[in-house]
Amino acid sequence: MKNVLLFADPGVDDAFAIMYAVLHPDINLIGIVAGYGNVEVETATRNIETILHLLDADIPVFGGANQPASDVYVEFYPEIHGIEGLGDYEPEGLGYQLTNFTDVYQLFDQYEDITIVEVGRNTGLMVGYMLGKQKMEQATDCFLMGGAFLTPGNITPAAEANFYGDPVAAKFVFENIYSHVFPLDVTEKALVTPEMIQYITAYTPLTRIREPIQLMYRFYQNVYQQFIPGLHGALIHDLMPLMYVTNPDMFRFVHREVYIETSTGPGRGASIADFRPSYETMKEEAADAIKHMIALEADYKAFFHQFLNT
Ligand code: BDR
Ligand code: CA
Repeated sequence: MKNVLLFADPGVDDAFAIMYAVLHPDINLIGIVAGYGNVEVETATRNIETILHLLDADIPVFGGANQPASDVYVEFYPEIHGIEGLGDYEPEGLGYQLTNFTDVYQLFDQYEDITIVEVGRNTGLMVGYMLGKQKMEQATDCFLMGGAFLTPGNITPAAEANFYGDPVAAKFVFENIYSHVFPLDVTEKALVTPEMIQYITAYTPLTRIREPIQLMYRFYQNVYQQFIPGLHGALIHDLMPLMYVTNPDMFRFVHREVYIETSTGPGRGASIADFRPSYETMKEEAADAIKHMIALEADYKAFFHQFLNT
């Protein structure tokens, strides 16, 4: 069983990732850091608390970043995740209890092997490392959802939303942390169809989450029909790094240095790696110095099976 510290900005796909992390028997979810991104940090926090409450899970939630390091303004995405961030599901009157961010460091005294999973903007993770490097460096792994390498971006032609949202933070993370990254190239395999949702909501013994799941998915899937006409379902991107925790064999990786474009031009937030055919021979000697693994392929059957089972 792996101890996972999750950074998230729910967001419909983040909400599914949280459910997966709570319910999968091979994951011990030790804490969640809420960050701005799809919604404001306060809303993200409330949404995390809501999902945990529906699942009867007692897991500490920490207050993360409320704005990017790259800008003084921040953009949210109600058109993709709904006004409250959970699609057509509107959580009612639930308050939230924020644990101060610096309490995250105590987890590193309590647990030996911690895997960090980041499925939002990288700001909180960057600040966490800046203020508490000695503690955060004790983490054994860091898995990130973000970027687009051989495929176009989703928020601009060049960039994926998490890296576009705070390129300065993403750049910091890649320069300082050995990471496995799960870009849009593989999250296109995180396809959840209406039939899968029907199956889950008909058979889950957790009756309280049936309706919220349907309402979250309904909105998100409608949005996807506009983005990718003809797609039968919606992409639940944020599940992928957690699937790697539970099913390491379902991905194929390449070992490459990742660069993040921090300019304010059309390249903002782009993730770049060297895929030229000559790369392998050029970089062979320096391979040990490369700190990043990029997931480029995922096994859909394994995804399907894990998602429904969990
Ligand atoms: C990423 O952006 C967010 O909108 C999603 O929650 C996901 O983390 C996909 O590009
Ligand atoms: Ca997210």
